Amino acid sequence: MRRAMVAGNWKMHGTRSSVRELIGALLQQKLPDNVDVAVFPPSLFIAEVVQALAETSLAVGGQTCAAQAGQGALTGEIASSQLADAGCELVLVGHSERRLILGESDELVAQKFAAALAAGLTPVLCVGETLEQREAGETLQVVSRQLAEVIRVSGIAAMARAIIAYEPVWAIGTGLTASPEQAQDVHEAIRLQLAAQDAGVAQVTRILYGGSVKAANAAELFGMPDIDGGLIGGASLNANEFGAICRAAGN
Ligand code: 13P
Repeated sequence: MRRAMVAGNWKMHGTRSSVRELIGALLQQKLPDNVDVAVFPPSLFIAEVVQALAETSLAVGGQTCAAQAGQGALTGEIASSQLADAGCELVLVGHSERRLILGESDELVAQKFAAALAAGLTPVLCVGETLEQREAGETLQVVSRQLAEVIRVSGIAAMARAIIAYEPVWAIGTGLTASPEQAQDVHEAIRLQLAAQDAGVAQVTRILYGGSVKAANAAELFGMPDIDGGLIGGASLNANEFGAICRAAGN
């Protein structure tokens, strides 16, 4: 049985005061014991969030890391080992905003994934198709290619130490959610791709759905057999909404 997980990706949102407020409100939430909950603040706030959540079961992650695990001369980047040192347990790799706006390739994402593992972090590998790709019938091909490159570099066994997040680009921040069936189809294909190489890994690897998840649609999505929780953007900035999504995952 895979444990449910709900993760909040705060993206490039927040000021010192709004982050303090959000943490305070999160601490007021009644969160279920049977769900792993994590937040991904902008790196600037990681230390503060780690400290504020130290006595809780919530984990903290980075939103990206450098392609190398160790420190070095790489202005503006953050090494996975530095995230680990700051108290992070996880890191997002390959979010579509970084792939599409910042030009991160499948190859670079695979290197970042490996760097995350090397530092002892759990990588959350984000995959997903654009609207154009979906309309061209290329969804499964695109997602499979994004996943294959990571498996090629890190090996299939590594996937059991990672989390996958399926986030259709057309559903991110648009209010358009994939239907539970649309999401399930892709999640199932991802699990079959893992199973083709290792059935045990496919059984244990958690696959989260992301893209306009709200309290109102969470239960339906999380009820699908291959959806193990959610990666939440906009709604994670509202503690009540995020708390309700976590509770939906626990039911
Ligand atoms: P929204 O929940 O705002 O659609 O964002 C999803 C996402 O990109 C999480 O990483």
